[in-house]
Amino acid sequence: MKLLTPIKIGNLEVRNRVVMPSITNNYAKDGYVTQQMLDYYEARARGGVGMICVEDGIVDFPIGNNTKNPVSIDDDKYIPMLTKLSTVIKKHGARAAIQISHAGRRAGRVSPENGCMEVTRGIIPVGPSIIGHPFPGYVVPRELRIEEIEDIVEKFGQAARRAIEAGFEIVGLHCAHMYLCGEFLSPWANKRTDKYGGSLENRLRFTLEIIQRMKKEMGNVPLICRMNGEEPVGGNTLLEIREIARRLQSAGIEAISVSTGFGAVLTERDFISAEAPIGTPEGCIVHLAENIKIGTTIPVMAGNMIRTPEFAENVLLENRADMITIGRPLITDPDWVNKVSAGKNRDIRPCVSCCQGCLGYLTRDLPITCIMNPVTGREGDHSMQPVPAERAKKVLVIGGGPGGLETAIIAARRGHKVTIWEKAQQLGGTVLLAELPPRKAELKKITNYFRHTVSQLKIDVELGKEANKELIKEFNPDAVVLAIGGKGILPPIKGITQNNVFLANDILKNNITLSGKVVIIGGGQVGVELAELLGEKGVSVTVVEALPSVAEGVFFGIKVPLMFKLEDYKVRLLTNTLAKEIKANGLLIERNGTEEFIEASSIVIAVGQTAQNSLEDELKEFVPELHAVGDCLKPGNIMDAVHEGYKVGLII
Ligand SMILES: Cc1cc2nc3c(=O)[nH]c(=O)nc-3n(C[C@H](O)[C@H](O)[C@H](O)COP(=O)(O)OP(=O)(O)OC[C@H]3O[C@@H](n4cnc5c(N)ncnc54)[C@H](O)[C@@H]3O)c2cc1C
Ligand SMILES: Cc1cc2nc3c(=O)[nH]c(=O)nc-3n(C[C@H](O)[C@H](O)[C@H](O)COP(=O)(O)O)c2cc1C
Ligand code: SF4
Repeated sequence: MKLLTPIKIGNLEVRNRVVMPSITNNYAKDGYVTQQMLDYYEARARGGVGMICVEDGIVDFPIGNNTKNPVSIDDDKYIPMLTKLSTVIKKHGARAAIQISHAGRRAGRVSPENGCMEVTRGIIPVGPSIIGHPFPGYVVPRELRIEEIEDIVEKFGQAARRAIEAGFEIVGLHCAHMYLCGEFLSPWANKRTDKYGGSLENRLRFTLEIIQRMKKEMGNVPLICRMNGEEPVGGNTLLEIREIARRLQSAGIEAISVSTGFGAVLTERDFISAEAPIGTPEGCIVHLAENIKIGTTIPVMAGNMIRTPEFAENVLLENRADMITIGRPLITDPDWVNKVSAGKNRDIRPCVSCCQGCLGYLTRDLPITCIMNPVTGREGDHSMQPVPAERAKKVLVIGGGPGGLETAIIAARRGHKVTIWEKAQQLGGTVLLAELPPRKAELKKITNYFRHTVSQLKIDVELGKEANKELIKEFNPDAVVLAIGGKGILPPIKGITQNNVFLANDILKNNITLSGKVVIIGGGQVGVELAELLGEKGVSVTVVEALPSVAEGVFFGIKVPLMFKLEDYKVRLLTNTLAKEIKANGLLIERNGTEEFIEASSIVIAVGQTAQNSLEDELKEFVPELHAVGDCLKPGNIMDAVHEGYKVGLII
């Protein structure tokens, strides 16, 4: 495969064309690399990737921070831990790179919890101009003075020196995502009238000065750059972007990683974000890498939602890019490259682009994790490694959703004799419903992966088998894991037992066709996704939600396109609204202290799930070892089910 062939960046050979791009993980502490980071990156290097570009090292901490907890490279005191980091990466044959950056105005995020500028530790951020990052919760920055610009250029130079002293073999300059370099480059953020603003020549000046200064420190070490492949209206055009790439090459940049997006423009329809969410086509910005390739002769990296080795290979074979960045899929499966090399593509734990555990956690200032990989961020924690069981037990897992399947896999790997009983005719559980709304089809990969893995291990699967006390007694297991999922809540609303009332999950499970006017009670993820699905089919939908907003807790990258679609389908969203009484021809609601009647032929209930523990109570008396995971224990999501299943699989 071309993907697995070496390539040169400058004079440096990289063993294959798979690059782990920078992904800030929130594992740093006070700017220092931590043991947690060493373990996390080492696992990815061991997994066969050609090059790892460590997340943004901040050149001016904390005013240039991209998050509350970034890696800092603005002082020599950080060099010893950075050296350890480059060492663990190189030890496994991967090339160690580090991206260096200043977040500019994007550092000015105000914490929704306490209203403080926690990212900059209370300091007003800086930018090329007095224009705030146009996304809720950002303060307006202070305009940089010329002498401050010169100071920042010097800071980039010093950061490059430290990167090299710390043993990094490649240094990356972050010019994408509207951080400080990107801000100066783009007329979207740079409105200066001095020599750093106005013409493209002037807008390039800051970045070119930085490159010149960094290269002075770098000798033969390659300098690469990440840049935007497209910008929103008012930003650089595709032609200007091509010209910027050409100028970067002329200035000595030796490879370009093409990215796009930056928070705010998510609210522009059809603009692809830096972390393209589930539902975005594979290879969504490869055309932007192609545009840059036209203007340059150095290696160009394409990425963002490249998920399969086959797709990556085709991009290379068609000469649309020279290297491929694989980001989130390496969070999910650090061994992605090794598995591809061994022809075991189906063994790859899939990333489904949900952003729930990675970016979703990062934006809440939490260390990143992954819905499908409970070990992410805990690679060095020995208690998380499956070890052979002292005694092989007869384990019965009841329920073939993600919780049960993960438990079964880990328990089987440890040597237990595992049987799964699933009352439906197929494995997958509620994920089979979760994948039905628009843009959610990528979730199918979860069930496909589990089915494949279960078939590789000696796990007995009995489909169409509904567990009850008698059957379990007869089976006589040493351990039982209940993973039977939650039960839809029927709220105590007058008229709820009428035959025009349906549970949301039943509509999806039984493919029930609704038409005319429908009211959905409950505007959480399930309610609004069902609203979109029905809206797409031409149904007139009203969503009634007691809270002040719908889709609470849904990651904004997923929520924004969903809200656009609800707008397109004219779905009426009634928040702060109570459902009072269901009648044969509609629903009586109370809003702002007044009652209103909404006509509807069907009422759908989507107010969530409750735990299912009646079987647990029945089994306690005779099952020697009993566990429960996932929604049946406490209604949650796929991540809860998988992570709990993993942990129970480890302790049985
Ligand atoms: C429309 C929709 C969208 C969703 N979207 C997302 C999302 O985007 N992200 C996310 O993280 N989560 C999402 N979820 C939630 C997610 O699907 C669940 O939280 C998750 O599947 C719970 O996993 P589980 O293994 O605990 O239970 P389940 O997946 O519910 O599996 C339980 C299994 O047990 C079986 N079972 C029940 N009783 C018995 C019995 N007595 N004997 C044998 N088998 C039995 C059931 O048939 C089922 O297969 C969504 C849910 C829905 C409905
Ligand atoms: C949690 C998270 C943090 C990220 N942090 C950075 C970063 O610090 N610098 C950067 O250039 N890109 C960052 N990115 C973007 C990724 O490098 C990558 O371009 C993006 O995830 C799309 O590629 P993928 O679909 O292969 O994941 C981040 C992405 C995620 C999910
Ligand atoms: S949390 Fe979701 S998007 Fe992030 S790495 Fe895991 S599967 Fe991929």
